[in-house]
Amino acid sequence: MAVITPPSAAAEEEAMILQVVRDLVAEKVAPRAAEIDAKGEFPWDIQKLFAENDLLGIPFPAEYGGLGGSFLTYVKVVEEISKACASSALIVAVQELGALPIIIAGNHEQKQKYIPKLASGEWTAAYALTEPSSGSDAGTMRVRAERKGDKYVINGNKIWITHGGVADVIVVFAVTDPSKGPNGVSAFIVEKDFPGFKVGKLEKKMGIRGSPTVELIFDNCEVPVENLLGEEGTGFKTAMKVLDKSRPGIAAQAVGIAQGALDYAAAYARERIAFGKPIGQQQGIQFMLADMKVEVEASRLLLYEAARKCDEGSADLTLYAALAKLKAGDTAMKVTVDAVQILGGFGYSVEYPVERMMRDAKITQIYEGTQQIQRLVIARTLVGKWKPPATDGR
Ligand code: CAA
Repeated sequence: MAVITPPSAAAEEEAMILQVVRDLVAEKVAPRAAEIDAKGEFPWDIQKLFAENDLLGIPFPAEYGGLGGSFLTYVKVVEEISKACASSALIVAVQELGALPIIIAGNHEQKQKYIPKLASGEWTAAYALTEPSSGSDAGTMRVRAERKGDKYVINGNKIWITHGGVADVIVVFAVTDPSKGPNGVSAFIVEKDFPGFKVGKLEKKMGIRGSPTVELIFDNCEVPVENLLGEEGTGFKTAMKVLDKSRPGIAAQAVGIAQGALDYAAAYARERIAFGKPIGQQQGIQFMLADMKVEVEASRLLLYEAARKCDEGSADLTLYAALAKLKAGDTAMKVTVDAVQILGGFGYSVEYPVERMMRDAKITQIYEGTQQIQRLVIARTLVGKWKPPATDGR
């Protein structure tokens, strides 16, 4: 006789959360997705909905107002929302990205001040790393922070900051010691009302159009010394540790987009008749659907493995986060392009969701480290980082 193991309390809680998310997505998010994309506005109604349903602080520590849930649950939530609306999924994912530096490197007072408000959704978060001259090569950033008495004064510009213009709290990475390269970077918690903080240009983007991406300007921006995260010079490592935990969130977005496109294309292929039978009964389309399915399932397995590495605090996390983001981003792109192809002319029309999914998919190959950076990270786990041999000055 088979022995049935009862589900653990954590598994039951995860199932409950996912059911709530599926219902919310079906009733409130999916019907808004096309409009959010067309208007290109941050959907505050969806932010409020997620906040009311406790979706913004799933893996945040319970002692600071979070749900104390697993990263696995968190990525499954991002995936579910992304099936219908990639912009809405970023409300959850970027709250995580902006809060993680405080969770990872903050002291008790900083966590107590910021995390409960971010977990409840009263405040919105952002993460400011990229600059006009440093995207992939983040260690060469130039935004400068200088200590003056009981304040740091920040000067310079950040670009491509997701939710930077709607955030109450932004973690900003800036150089405190230019002689030390990446090890001269420090991390600061900046509030939107700090003197000298301004929001600059809003980007007009191909996809994730309901997720505003802006330039941030620091013009003698004054930050109290107590808002330094960790020690001076530890900011770059904090930024990297955050990306290890946030890249699975983007992989989850990618898997969700791909699954949403596959579901739509398969449903269309079951109904659309050509040459006397549904196109899903034509071998050419069947092979495409089968290839899409295998890519989505393989990406999901890597994603869940990366999330488990987050939960275990595994030393392999950097590698698995990069593997998951690389595989899932490429899957999202390929599967959405094929979904458009299966729908033919209808796929190219804004009246069907797959063209939006295709446009949204592209960003998952670019942000939180391009696919080329993921390959660099993966390769370094195999062969190490090249260090030029020391020269004797000749
Ligand atoms: N965890 C902890 N420490 C790490 C680390 C990690 N994962 N990765 C690197 N470090 C440490 C290194 O050990 C090193 O420390 P020491 O000097 O003490 O040995 C230090 O950080 C510098 O690291 P590297 O020498 O590896 O730095 P590098 O310049 O050669 O390469 C990189 C780093 C991996 C290429 C990094 O710059 C990178 O990830 N670039 C991509 C940037 C990125 O992902 N940007 C995304 C912006 S956010 C975004 O997109 C969000 C959004 O919109 C939603």
